[in-house]
Amino acid sequence: MSLVETLIAKMTIAEKVGQLNLVTAGQAVTGPAQAGDFRANVRAGHVGGVFNLWGRDAIESVQKQAVQGARLGVPLFFGLDVLHGHRTIFPIPLAEAGLFDPPFWERTARAAAIEAAADGIDLTFAPMLDVARDPRWGRIAEGPGEDPLVAARFAAAKVRGFQGTALSERTSIASTAKHFCAGGAALAGRDYAAVDLSERVLHEVYLPPFRAAVAAGCAAIMPAFNSLAGIPMTAHTALLTGFLRRKLGFDGVIISDYTAIPELIQHGVAADRVEAAALALKAGVDMDMVSGAFLLLPQALARGLVTEADIDAAVRRVLRLKESLGLFDDPYRRCRQSPAPPPAAHQALARDAARRTLTLLVNHDVLPIPAHVRRIAIIGPLADARADLLGPWSAAGAPAQCVTILEGLRAAVPECEIVHHPGVGVEGDDASGIPLARRLCETAELVVLCLGESAGMSGEAASRANPGLPGGQMALADAVLETGRPVAVILLSGRPLMISTLAARAGAVLAAWFPGHAAGDAIADVVTGRVNPSGRLPVTWPVNIGQVPIFFATRSSGRPPDSLDPFTSKYLDVSVEPLFPFGHGLSYARTSLANLRIRLGAPVEVEVDLCNEGPVAAEETIFLFLRDVAARVARPLMELKDWAKVTLAPGRTQRVVFTLGRESFTFLDENLEPVFEPGGFEILVGQSADRKRLLTARIDLSM
Ligand code: NOJ
Repeated sequence: MSLVETLIAKMTIAEKVGQLNLVTAGQAVTGPAQAGDFRANVRAGHVGGVFNLWGRDAIESVQKQAVQGARLGVPLFFGLDVLHGHRTIFPIPLAEAGLFDPPFWERTARAAAIEAAADGIDLTFAPMLDVARDPRWGRIAEGPGEDPLVAARFAAAKVRGFQGTALSERTSIASTAKHFCAGGAALAGRDYAAVDLSERVLHEVYLPPFRAAVAAGCAAIMPAFNSLAGIPMTAHTALLTGFLRRKLGFDGVIISDYTAIPELIQHGVAADRVEAAALALKAGVDMDMVSGAFLLLPQALARGLVTEADIDAAVRRVLRLKESLGLFDDPYRRCRQSPAPPPAAHQALARDAARRTLTLLVNHDVLPIPAHVRRIAIIGPLADARADLLGPWSAAGAPAQCVTILEGLRAAVPECEIVHHPGVGVEGDDASGIPLARRLCETAELVVLCLGESAGMSGEAASRANPGLPGGQMALADAVLETGRPVAVILLSGRPLMISTLAARAGAVLAAWFPGHAAGDAIADVVTGRVNPSGRLPVTWPVNIGQVPIFFATRSSGRPPDSLDPFTSKYLDVSVEPLFPFGHGLSYARTSLANLRIRLGAPVEVEVDLCNEGPVAAEETIFLFLRDVAARVARPLMELKDWAKVTLAPGRTQRVVFTLGRESFTFLDENLEPVFEPGGFEILVGQSADRKRLLTARIDLSM
């Protein structure tokens, strides 16, 4: 008998359900319930894993209690939300998605895994793979943006990065793809709210990233808090067992979200905790995060709601995970490896990541800072903010290590006199600082205006009905802009912000998202022109919140918008165009695309020439979209099929080649099965999803 089966054979029912119990230690607070005396439960064999605890000594001492104190000495695993760095904090995932660079996505996950493992962590609750098209939803910050292909490639890269070459390696941590699924489509953008969407959209948009995570070998999956068409994901047999286990062959661990099992009662599908536990287990959930409801499974067994075989199946998966993490060979394999302070290489990576995620949204020759400038006013409530730069999920990242924007710029331009005033707070209506801030701007040659959200305004439980500039920030911006000085806005946020007025009036707007530890240095690198900005938007920025959801892959209408025809699909009061399309991002280079050429065959080859006409090297992202012109199921106006990143010296032209296999031209038919239909396709290539600026070609495929 295998080690796992031998153990199961020895376990009492209480020990079995103990393995399904994941408890919080409370070093970080990531949900409503408080940490209890988890150590006593560990010694009693009632705990399978612990999360929200890190640090070699702390983890070693708890592991000792499990291994030496509990009857069977089954080791625990230790989990944590390591989302975008552990000790070294990288930009938030939404920002990193804008790199459109899978090898880079993998590199930051690898670095995070190395640091987390050295702190005793065995498993991360990441990557977060919720496609999100609604900036009201605060958790848009944690995920890869609006597009399923980007999300799928992000998923695979992150799983590879976290898990490394083998889970048993000391520097590998198991990854948990979350939140399965469709939380990004929460009703009205409200966190935890119900989701109702078509099977088609589910399969075309929300499932592909999870399919990719499973294909990449992710060790665990976390069901989402939300319900889907009336069935809470924590009890969704068809998706957890039918889709994940049977269709995709996923045999890893399904870990509930925080107290999600008893929340089945509030959802209205379980009468009590015992029933909730039974529903979740039967649907396919193996581990219970925080609630302790799975400890009631013996009662569910007595009521005939579950069988011992159901419990054994979950225990088996948990034990197998521990086995593949190498914990049976050495329960201390991560926490006892030689100490690893964040290597300098990770700090350099954090700076590189941060500057490459900065996205230049507007620029009227205000950036880079011209050489003659000698007096700069750095204004705004986020100019000297520190902890906020980490964003909403900063794990073990120390705020003290953040470089503020003010510090970064001071260090980068020592020849300039820098004056600073916050003007207003991030929130609140105290406008008393505005006159002084304005006065400082009047004598400056350039104003760097640092606006946006604080870290806690996005992430979990941070939905905003009006995601614009909070508090008195727009009043501050008005006062600063009235001086007529050139103004470069640095915008911190975990989501697209509604800033159309500001964008129309500012000389430059740089979306910095939440850039992590190296924020100030990275921002200084870009605004001084030492680094050419190359971040591109992974999500559409609306003009007005009333346009939401707005994304490039919409389907057409029988009456597409036509400004001359009132009986078409549009608004009376707002344009249907976004403020900034998906893929948008300016640079200091001047590039153009020309000569779109298609070679039919298997695969279809698409070529285009990228020319760098300006004086600086360019790093461009070229997107390839497809439209199936007439199919039995209407296809989106544009579907992203591939992209390429190109680095190009000044004055050079480079051929960019894409190959499209047959699968690129398939879609899901009426039965949601992939089908290829011969006929006409439109190929669209360009530097964003702005249709007016894309090169297009029509092809006919009759294969
Ligand atoms: C709740 C969040 O939804 C989830 O993403 C996270 O992993 C857990 N809390 C644990 O912190």
